[in-house]
Amino acid sequence: MFITFEGGEGTGKSTLIEIIKQRLIDKGYEIVLTREPGGKGSKFAENIRDLVLDPKYKNVNAHTEALLYAASRAQHLDEVILPALKQKKIVLCDRYLDSSLAYQAFARDLGLDYVLNINRYALDKLPNLTFYIDLDPKVGLGRIKDRSKNDRLDQEKLSFHEKVRKGYLELVDKYQSRIVVIDGNKSISEIAVEMIEEINKRL
Ligand code: TYD
Repeated sequence: MFITFEGGEGTGKSTLIEIIKQRLIDKGYEIVLTREPGGKGSKFAENIRDLVLDPKYKNVNAHTEALLYAASRAQHLDEVILPALKQKKIVLCDRYLDSSLAYQAFARDLGLDYVLNINRYALDKLPNLTFYIDLDPKVGLGRIKDRSKNDRLDQEKLSFHEKVRKGYLELVDKYQSRIVVIDGNKSISEIAVEMIEEINKRL
């Protein structure tokens, strides 16, 4: 089973994934936890991550950025996700294709067709389940403002993050059977219970 976690900045995604991972391990499942851009277990994809998120690069062309995310995804799939799924492990991935659709297709205005096209390799391996944690970006950005290390995208203006959210909500509408929306205003423990219930329905 392939499960992805999506959302804007400051939604508690990383904390939640750790909780879900532990609950599934306690039930006896073998878990691979990974993330995008990059992917734990793929040095090549992680190097692309370092490049694409580095705040020292300003004015990165939106196409360059989208292609780098797609390139790191193809490598991540081959080196990490597909082998784990073959071994019947549950793969939990912090961001995946929908991030490119929300951030690059919608927020950067590259369009859905273009971004789907450059991600064709990943379209053959869509997640069985995607959680989108929905939260007003004003609240999310407020939660991360004290973080010492913000990446290139965290530094975007509020209007960019509002476009990202709007993009995600369109994706929720388009891929209703795959994406489950979670209210990001709820507590971490409430959200974890909801997520486990959804996963159990599909296991
Ligand atoms: P990350 O450090 O993983 O932070 P978080 O998931 O906690 O926000 O940052 C990844 C950033 O990259 C995030 O701002 C979203 C962006 N991103 C894209 O724009 N497109 C993509 O395809 C992916 C995977 C991420």
